[in-house]
Amino acid sequence: MKTAIVTGGCRGIGLAATEIFLEQGWRVAMVDRDTRELHRVADGMENVLAVEADVSDPDQVERMVAETVAGLGRIDALVNNAGVALFSHAGRTSFEEWREVMATNLDGVFLCTQATAPELAKTGGAIVNIASISGLRASTLRVAYGTSKAAVIHLTKQFAAELGEQGIRVNCVAPGPVRTKLAMAVHAPEIISAYYDAIPLNRYGEAREIAEAIVFLCSDKASFVSGQTLAVDGGFDATGVGLPALRRENEPA
Ligand SMILES: NC(=O)c1ccc[n+]([C@@H]2O[C@H](COP(=O)([O-])OP(=O)(O)OC[C@H]3O[C@@H](n4cnc5c(N)ncnc54)[C@H](O)[C@@H]3O)[C@@H](O)[C@H]2O)c1
Repeated sequence: MKTAIVTGGCRGIGLAATEIFLEQGWRVAMVDRDTRELHRVADGMENVLAVEADVSDPDQVERMVAETVAGLGRIDALVNNAGVALFSHAGRTSFEEWREVMATNLDGVFLCTQATAPELAKTGGAIVNIASISGLRASTLRVAYGTSKAAVIHLTKQFAAELGEQGIRVNCVAPGPVRTKLAMAVHAPEIISAYYDAIPLNRYGEAREIAEAIVFLCSDKASFVSGQTLAVDGGFDATGVGLPALRRENEPA
């Protein structure tokens, strides 16, 4: 039975990816630092191992990998999904806030990838990192969040370059907005409406729509795909200025 580690797995996009892995016959190590929610969610699920860990802590990450191997025997995929969001003006973002975002969003990806790579080399496994459209296109208030996600996109290429010879594929998914706890904490009504205006599909995504792309990139169906970032964003990254105006012009009278 194939086994995936999903960090930040007990809610939002990570939980949706876990559910699809399970539907496709995988087992999942559900990793989260929110221990109460982790056990509440994992306890009701079959083929799920709950692993408490903060991905920004090297010792906890080492233990997380050891517990997964002890509990599930092998690792075929790592989904670096755990993330935190902060919307804050560039000039007013404190160094502590900057470090907090980098610690989970960037250090966490680095640490989990390094710690899991020896196990993934044994199975010819795959890694999928979760970045964001905020890592592809800059916007206001995202000096730390956007920069951390842009770094994840490049880190994906770095690891793909070096882990490829061990048979490990490394890819990235850059989601557009999804109504999760993370997004709703920072998306004010005007940001929600700005996203509707800027997205050709004219809506937010569903966690499951992001998760389908994640599980595909982990699967053998993507066996020759590595080093890539797939935006799952309703067309946001493809478009420039003028979309809302053009929509209005083409509205039926
Ligand atoms: N929701 C969106 O609109 C959106 C858009 C683009 C990218 N993303 C990215 O998708 C990923 C998942 O986001 P989500 O919206 O499902 O968020 P969420 O807040 O619903 O879930 C994130 C999970 O990660 C866990 N987590 C956070 N920091 C952790 C740490 N240091 N160690 C272990 N677990 C930790 C949280 O406890 C939580 O369970 C994140 O990387 C986020 O940046 C989300």
